Amino acid sequence: MEGGNRGPVTEALLGWYDANAREMPWRGIHDPWGTWVSEIMLQQTRVDTARDYYIRFMRRFPTVRDLAEAPEADVLKMWEGLGYYSRARNLRQGAIQVMTEYNGKIPETPEELIRIRGIGPYTSCSIASIAFRYPVAAVDGNVTRVVCRLYDIAENPAEAGTRDRIAELAGALVPADRPGDHNQAMMDLGATVCVPGTPDCENCPLREMCAARAAGTAETLPRLPKARPPQEIAYDLPVIFAGNSVLLYRRGEKMLHGLWCFPLMEGCRSEEELTAAVRKKLGLRAESLIPAGSAKHVFTHQVWRMNLYRVRVAPDSPAPEGYEWIPVSEMDKLAFPTAVKAARALVKQGTPDEK
Ligand code: ADE
Repeated sequence: MEGGNRGPVTEALLGWYDANAREMPWRGIHDPWGTWVSEIMLQQTRVDTARDYYIRFMRRFPTVRDLAEAPEADVLKMWEGLGYYSRARNLRQGAIQVMTEYNGKIPETPEELIRIRGIGPYTSCSIASIAFRYPVAAVDGNVTRVVCRLYDIAENPAEAGTRDRIAELAGALVPADRPGDHNQAMMDLGATVCVPGTPDCENCPLREMCAARAAGTAETLPRLPKARPPQEIAYDLPVIFAGNSVLLYRRGEKMLHGLWCFPLMEGCRSEEELTAAVRKKLGLRAESLIPAGSAKHVFTHQVWRMNLYRVRVAPDSPAPEGYEWIPVSEMDKLAFPTAVKAARALVKQGTPDEK
């Protein structure tokens, strides 16, 4: 266990935090469930985006039990637009695990927390420190950057040895009396002052103690390996209408699992080829097929470039296997990835007959 007396870094940081802490709905709540939800949301989402989602999510699922008892589809709907949807599915599984294995009581130590679905090394420490005052460092990307600069660490923080060293240095800073505040102060500093590329060293509470500032290296740290460029995929996306229903499927793939989507066709070079693919792959005969613009969505590892089409088929056409005809009026009850926002907007503009 970490947590000791405050050194000069911790003292300066907590003083800064007491004056500058950002207001957030999950701060000062004394509810481990709220801390858990917020920490999962904040893993890949910026604070400003997470705020409204957090408030709505906690209103709908105010306790672990509420989430554990909810259907997965409801949880995904509440997460709609946040991305990285496995977080929502795992959070629900984790809630079920807490109900069944821990009698509904969220465990308090990182060692126990990490055994819960969806809680990893970072989240186990952030929840333990923030919700239970457990004296341990929570090292995310922001904290890694602060530590690399504070100690002028030029090695790649993605490598195990360097990662361990950063964790050790971060741990030595954690004060026994306010571990959660300290960790959140490190995160806030990384998010607002010690930012990537252009740190605002003049306004940093640690400027007198920062080794990278003294060495003139702050802007270059941390030295992360270059990310691979995302894979580009070209899709044709036919929005297929039969009467007042539209053809959708619930994704079984790992990516966007459980979310609803329009058919995605790869490799068509013309309207004729798409018409043929709709016939062959979906068994549907297009009565009309009209280009309806294009859309692009950037994921972490993929870029989808989509050509959209409005397609009309006979109202009594059977749904292809794995697909469903969903009445347009029911569509908004389902959870969709943001990537198909333009296709949803197309549906809302009206069915081809109405145009
Ligand atoms: N990032 C992850 N958790 C956070 C928190 N509690 N405050 C600010 N940024 C965070």
